[in-house]
Amino acid sequence: MKAAYINQTGPPEVIVYDELPAPKPRRTECLIKVGAVDVNPIDTYIRGGLIPAKLTFPYILGRDLAGTVVETGAGVKRFSVGDRVWATGQGTGNRDGTFAEFAAADERWLFPIPDGVSDEAIVAVSLVGTTAHLGLLRNAKLRAGETLFVNGGSGGVGSCVVQIAKILGARVITTAGSDEKVKLCRELGAEVAVNYKTQDVGAAIREFAPEGVNVWWETVREPDFERTIPLMAMRARMVVMAGRDARPVFPVGPFYTRDCSIHGFAMLNATAREMRAAGMDLNPWMAEGKLKARIDRVLPLSQAAEAHRLQEESTIKKAGVLSGKLVLKP
Ligand SMILES: NC(=O)c1ccc[n+]([C@@H]2O[C@H](COP(=O)([O-])OP(=O)(O)OC[C@H]3O[C@@H](n4cnc5c(N)ncnc54)[C@H](OP(=O)(O)O)[C@@H]3O)[C@@H](O)[C@H]2O)c1
Repeated sequence: MKAAYINQTGPPEVIVYDELPAPKPRRTECLIKVGAVDVNPIDTYIRGGLIPAKLTFPYILGRDLAGTVVETGAGVKRFSVGDRVWATGQGTGNRDGTFAEFAAADERWLFPIPDGVSDEAIVAVSLVGTTAHLGLLRNAKLRAGETLFVNGGSGGVGSCVVQIAKILGARVITTAGSDEKVKLCRELGAEVAVNYKTQDVGAAIREFAPEGVNVWWETVREPDFERTIPLMAMRARMVVMAGRDARPVFPVGPFYTRDCSIHGFAMLNATAREMRAAGMDLNPWMAEGKLKARIDRVLPLSQAAEAHRLQEESTIKKAGVLSGKLVLKP
């Protein structure tokens, strides 16, 4: 099969697009003919060797997939040949990467794709939607009527946080880096969207939530707690999930005296059961059109290196060149 893989960590050019043997499904695994995959910032950190990860070479890239089951292991109970499925959180531990024509995945990590939802759309929300769901429901326990601020509402994770917070009945204020992206955040349902390059974000938050916001979701890799904490309400929860190297100042006094809490998490640590709770909500929301995929562009898998370059430029170098997910098709 054709696959996009690496034999060593390094810049996007280390990505090889060539033939590798197709995997054989183990007892509880399905073999999936991959219809679409997508790129996440973590793929670029792993490829670049920026985070410690035990890799066996050749290492097939990719966390997410959508496709069709073509073979099942003897112990598979939930799926049959011909079923359309999606998965996230692959390419780690004993889970295969997804950037290939075929991938094997344990049925614990698989979800059916709802009728009427394309491979491209579901794969574009798989990791980012699961992340938003875990952070909002499992960690921050967002309730209807609460106010939420998400810093970076046009990004992969941020656009799902905006939409899911609205589905859960919260009031949402967010930021984006251009007037077009601000407009898009409003279309996603945010009551208020602020251009963080040209407007006073703090003033907008104070006007929207004079008592402070109940949940603060930070997608930016260098959180500024000096700014954040005075804008949080009594008993507010903050979600941090980006910025492995960030070591910001943390103003303890204003934080604990308002009974605030902070929740950090990495979605790849979630158990299959926790991911299931997310996937089983994402599916109907996608089918009903309440949660919409945002796709910047669809490329052939042979352009995996170019896709990595674009993702890196957008997220790490903060060029903001993407507006939505990069989807690749084998
Ligand atoms: N912990 C986890 O489980 C987990 C899961 C997924 C992702 N992540 C991490 O979360 C981060 C975001 O991921 P993503 O996929 O959403 O990336 P993304 O699609 O590139 O989004 C990045 C966002 O940051 C915004 N931004 C950049 N500079 C900003 C600033 N100064 N103020 C406010 N917003 C700013 C961008 O806004 P504009 O484009 O509008 O300028 C964009 O909305 C990455 O670091 C990723 O590694 C962690």
